[in-house]
Amino acid sequence: MAFARLTAILALAVAANAAVAPTRQVTCATGQKTANAACCALFPVVDLLQSQLFDGAECGEEAHSALRLSFHDAIGFSIHGGKGGGADGSILAFADTETAFHANGGIDEITDGQTPVWKQTNLTAGDFVHLAAAVGTANCPGAPRLEFKLGRPAPKAPAPDLTIPEPTDSVTSILARFADAGFSPREAVALLASHTVAAADVVDTTIPGTPFDSTPFTFDSQVFLEVLLKGKLFPGNGSQPGEVLSPLAGEMRLQSDFVISQDPRTACFWQAMINNQQFMMSEFKNAMAKLQVLGQDTNKLIDCSDVVPVPKTFNQNIKFPASFSQKDVQVACKASAFPKISTVAGPAPTVPPVPGS
Ligand code: HEM
Repeated sequence: MAFARLTAILALAVAANAAVAPTRQVTCATGQKTANAACCALFPVVDLLQSQLFDGAECGEEAHSALRLSFHDAIGFSIHGGKGGGADGSILAFADTETAFHANGGIDEITDGQTPVWKQTNLTAGDFVHLAAAVGTANCPGAPRLEFKLGRPAPKAPAPDLTIPEPTDSVTSILARFADAGFSPREAVALLASHTVAAADVVDTTIPGTPFDSTPFTFDSQVFLEVLLKGKLFPGNGSQPGEVLSPLAGEMRLQSDFVISQDPRTACFWQAMINNQQFMMSEFKNAMAKLQVLGQDTNKLIDCSDVVPVPKTFNQNIKFPASFSQKDVQVACKASAFPKISTVAGPAPTVPPVPGS
């Protein structure tokens, strides 16, 4: 008993000490501070990314595409082996091969955009792709500050084709692919928070830059709400493969997002994100931390997360787009109550395209 009390007191003392112990930091030649001197070389790369790729720290088309690229790179991996080197930058280093894969439609724009910037750095393709994704995401208000680990070796070979889920795939096939790469259904839904800062260029080529929600420049939970609204229109040239009816003019709904929102294996994870900003941020941050080091020897990576810019916060309640309300929601999670959401005033909006697409 006395021993147990002593252990508890000691544990408390250690915890208190850990809480006040200052984090050791080094000051880089550029004046910035970081936990590890090896990370100093990244601050100029962050500046380069912001000025040459992200139009001065914007959450625009390039930031969105950099996040998509990190997924398409990393998911070339299987816990059983034989499906590529994961988050190794093979999609950039072997862009000629990987951009030809069907699921990589439109990805050549961002590999073409990143290559000249990458060539100005000493980073491996993997470190570059995953740093760019963390920095681009940080430009989106409401995003979590993603981790960044430095030290991926150069990729050995392109990933094989058919590792990237397609919007025409069934939920069973999508979840099987995620499981094969080491992700649970909950983590798969967490990663889909990315579609809150996203638009489609090639699903319907007549309407490039068509967003998946009405706020593609903010990392809010709006996409999780809008994918549940009753669909009524196709925003462009009729129905395309991988697309289902959307609730709003100018907005695209992916079939994959919709079926995942409705499936009993994922519907409650989907609903739990709605108007739950902190929860969504932490779910996405954790799943991305795993995604961005897939296939890497994490013991050899250096934690340089403190070079990633701190995103602006978003702490408002989300709203139904004007003219929509609870009666328009296709609720698929029966286990928990749907959150109470108010409606924007005015007539139903038309969502404008993301410029530069
Ligand atoms: C079920 C899995 C997924 C499917 C089927 C899927 C499918 C798609 C499709 C079809 C597009 C539009 C491409 C175009 O027409 O230009 C897209 C865009 C995008 N996806 Fe996914 N995606 C999935 C998961 C993810 C994940 C896990 C991430 C990141 C962690 C991600 C990030 C993005 C982003 C940021 C865009 C927008 C790119 C831009 O606006 O340039 N997606 N996705």
